[in-house]
Amino acid sequence: MKLWGQILWTLLSGSRGRRGAPQGWALNSWKPRSSLSGQLSATEVVSHWTQVFEQRGIPEAQESSEYIVAHVLGAKTFQSLRPVLWTKPLAPKQLQYIQELCSHRLQRMPVQYILGEWDFQGLSLKMEPPVFIPRPETEELVEWVLEEVAQRPPAVGAQGGPLILEVGCGSGAIALSLLSQLPESQVIAVDKGEAAVRLTRKNAQRLQLQDRIWIVPLDITSEGCWTHLLPWGPIDLVVSNPPYVFHKDMEQLAPEICSYEDLVALDGGEEGMDIITCILTLAPQLLNASGSIFLEVDPRHPELVSSWLQSRPDLRLSLVAVRKDFCGRPRFLHVRKSAA
Ligand SMILES: C[S@@+](CC[C@H](N)C(=O)[O-])C[C@H]1O[C@@H](n2cnc3c(N)ncnc32)[C@H](O)[C@@H]1O
Ligand SMILES: *[C@@H]1O[C@H](CO)[C@@H](O)[C@H](O)[C@H]1NC(C)=O
Repeated sequence: MKLWGQILWTLLSGSRGRRGAPQGWALNSWKPRSSLSGQLSATEVVSHWTQVFEQRGIPEAQESSEYIVAHVLGAKTFQSLRPVLWTKPLAPKQLQYIQELCSHRLQRMPVQYILGEWDFQGLSLKMEPPVFIPRPETEELVEWVLEEVAQRPPAVGAQGGPLILEVGCGSGAIALSLLSQLPESQVIAVDKGEAAVRLTRKNAQRLQLQDRIWIVPLDITSEGCWTHLLPWGPIDLVVSNPPYVFHKDMEQLAPEICSYEDLVALDGGEEGMDIITCILTLAPQLLNASGSIFLEVDPRHPELVSSWLQSRPDLRLSLVAVRKDFCGRPRFLHVRKSAA
């Protein structure tokens, strides 16, 4: 668990510390308490389910319990509930619904899928298994891109905002948050997963961003796939949070991830570089003369990517900056196309 401790294993708490790995537990240690149908307040229900989750070795017991109870009461977080609702007895229907949602958590379903929605960069996005759940550190990638765009005024004669290609859009988290914060921009979002393409479409509609995004089902490892992208004209930015987990690390992933999320979203091949190198090979053909690529990667990748780029001078790409995530690990790359 060391490597993915906070990044892939913990879906909820972001930079917060976490407790130890789940202990063994007896399957029969949990029984619905009949008292739960009595006069119970939200606070009491939260502590009941926290205890149940803890006994059953469910990670992030309290957060899980709080998110579920808040959701059933129509709020995003327990803390944001009106205090009067903390102590008011819940209706039997509400208790039943909470029980149903909590039973999914006992099966290790990630809270994001249980609630069916999750926030990213202030946008509320629909979440549906097996589409990859956006992770908190990816918000840092988006923030970096926004900073860079703000620093570089558009070239003389250039119309509107940047034209951005996102490879592997998943739920649409990166593409849609860039669109919402860059009102002149346009995005081409590709993904090889049908469910991802559908979910990005749904999220774009819900957020009324569908007019500035083209969502294309595309496997970027397929031969000649870049010819499908060429007609869009030179692209200013390529952004991607590609599958980058080293294949041998896949077996360390938490049950939440292996049982519910599409593993194609995670497995980057032997050194996690399969899709990264594919993007880097493809990008120079699509980018404008000084276009940029922003990638989220594993902490071992900055060096690997740097030496891979040195072995491919024909691509005329250079690694111009590396950024650390909130845990201090080098996780984000800025690669730029340099003049011939
Ligand atoms: C780590 S997820 C990122 C999803 C989303 N951008 C986010 O940050 O939440 C990687 C995405 O890449 C997609 N993907 C994997 N291999 C691909 C390929 N060869 N071509 C296109 N998309 C691919 C997966 O389906 C998945 O949605
Ligand atoms: C090329 O894209 C970069 C962003 O990556 C942008 O700053 C620059 O203005 C673009 N150049 C042209 C000629 O459009």
